[in-house]
Amino acid sequence: MPIGFFDSGVGGLSILRHTISAMPSTDFIYIADSANCPWGEKDNDFIDNRSVELTEFLLSKGVSVVVVACNSASTNSIEMLRKKFPKIPFVGVEPGIKPALLQTKKGRVAVLATRATSRGEKFLDTKKRFSGRGRVLVIPAPELVEWIEKGYSLSFCQRARLAEILDPAVQTGVDQLVLGCTHFPFLLSEIKECLSEEVNIIDTSPAVSRRIEEVAKSVMNTNENGTLTFYTSADTNKMDKLLTRLIGIENVESKKIEK
Ligand code: DGL
Repeated sequence: MPIGFFDSGVGGLSILRHTISAMPSTDFIYIADSANCPWGEKDNDFIDNRSVELTEFLLSKGVSVVVVACNSASTNSIEMLRKKFPKIPFVGVEPGIKPALLQTKKGRVAVLATRATSRGEKFLDTKKRFSGRGRVLVIPAPELVEWIEKGYSLSFCQRARLAEILDPAVQTGVDQLVLGCTHFPFLLSEIKECLSEEVNIIDTSPAVSRRIEEVAKSVMNTNENGTLTFYTSADTNKMDKLLTRLIGIENVESKKIEK
C-alpha cells in the first residue's frame, strides 16, 4: 500500500525527498496539479474541490495514507477531507509560525506564504494564539511558486526581484523567516543570500516527514525496494526534467491526469 502525496505542483517534493530517504522501501504516488498551479491565488471552493478529486484519485490507486503536501490545501481543506474520508489518515503541512514566535528574540517574524494560506482559519488562529510573543509580517509571494514550476534556475533579475520581495522583512528587522509554502525550500540558498546571517529560516518539511513516518508505520508494510509513481496535469516531459533537477530522481516517467 503506497503513501499518496498531492500538491498544486512540485512543491510537495520538498517533503517527499525527506520521506524517500527515511523510508526507502516504501512505494509512493505523487500528484502535481501543475496545470492548475498556483492554488494559492484561487478561492477556497476551488481548493476544496480539487483536493477531493486528487484524494479520490489517490484512493483509487490504493494508498494507505494521504499527505496534503501543500500549505494552501492543508490550511483550507484538511478538516473537510478528514470528515469526508474518515477511514483515511491525512498528514498536512502548516507554516511554522508557532516555532518562529516561540524562538524570536526581537518579537518580529516574517512568513512567506500564499494568499490562500494566510487567509486560512488555522493560520489566523495560530497567529492570534501566540500574538503575545511578537508581530507577524505576512509576505505573499506567488511569483516564487511559478519560478520553481518553470524550471528552478533563477536569472539575475529574478534574484533581484527576490531581494525586493524580502525587503520588508529586512526593513522590519525580523529574526525568524518562515517558509510557508512547500515550494520555497527549493529556494533556500537564494533566500539566505538576501538576509542577514542572524535570520533563522524555518522549514517544517523535515518535521512533516517524521510525522508521515509515524503515521505510515502504524498502517502499512514495506517492500524490498520502494517505487515512485508520478502523475501531473501538466506536460509530462517537462515534469520528468524538473523531478531530476529538484530531487535528483531519474528514470521516473510521469503519467498524465485530467486537468
Ligand atoms: N505548494 C503550495 C503551498 O504550499 C501551493 C503554492 C501555490 O500553488 O500557490 O501552499
